[in-house]
Amino acid sequence: MGIWIDTDMGVDDLFAVLMLDGALPIDGMSLVFGCAELASVRANALDAANAYGWTFPVTEGADRALRGGLETAARILGPAGQPSRGLRLPRAVDRPLTRALTGLMTWLEWHEQAEILAMGPLTNLAYLALARPDLLPRIRRIVWMGGSVGRGNHTPYAEFNAIADPEALALLLAREVPLVMVDLEACRKVQVTEPDLAPLPPIMHDLMGGYLDIGLSRGRPGMALYDPVAAALLRAPELFTLSHVELVTELADPERRGQTRVTPATATPWQIVSDLDADAVRGLCLSALRDPS
Ligand code: RIB
Ligand code: CA
Repeated sequence: MGIWIDTDMGVDDLFAVLMLDGALPIDGMSLVFGCAELASVRANALDAANAYGWTFPVTEGADRALRGGLETAARILGPAGQPSRGLRLPRAVDRPLTRALTGLMTWLEWHEQAEILAMGPLTNLAYLALARPDLLPRIRRIVWMGGSVGRGNHTPYAEFNAIADPEALALLLAREVPLVMVDLEACRKVQVTEPDLAPLPPIMHDLMGGYLDIGLSRGRPGMALYDPVAAALLRAPELFTLSHVELVTELADPERRGQTRVTPATATPWQIVSDLDADAVRGLCLSALRDPS
């Protein structure tokens, strides 16, 4: 059985998919707003599907949060959600896609012990929980890049994927859907720096360079890999130590909205990454980055 990928198809989402494509079976993909507005997310996904010859279904879902808000990371990542030092994937022809909810429901009707890699706001999965709660027991776990057990990156308290739709996260927690939170603090252990770019092929070099520039422009020596760390957990689980926690998200306090708080626990449906082999995870990501042939 393969995995399902739910993504807002920013540049680190693309790196993450490349780590899995060809290494694990991918059954399908659902797109969600996040890094950019949904039209740009769809364009990025179609470009990648066309360039790399993806054969799994790509579907499109929520263009805003459950409560109607639209928070994107465009101020950091640019309007397309994929900064670059120059080269990018060739543009594909835009076309409408099947609805994400239809794709997810159909997939889950045929699968048990299902694993979902989520790399954006959790809105599509929350809609699934609302529409078909009977399918939730079929989900073995959602591996989600999101949240932070320390400081945030979109606000002082909140990580972007969490604050873009905290009600979606809260809904999944309320339904006790098993979730592994690959949070900012875990991802910050995996840093890319300028020397990592040299061996990369031209397009990947420029895309990773654009991504690295986010960190460099803030006076840091490198940039944390986010979504690729979550992908690495599925590809090489032996590189990770997970711990059960109680997990809550802040909805009420405007200053702390989207903050994720954890306390150690046993036998909960929720886990965080308490340790990882950062060098091996970085190597796994960089070695997977190939230009289309
Ligand atoms: O906070 C990092 C997350 O926000 C990553 O998933 C990135 O792609 C953006 O969605
Ligand atoms: Ca993402």
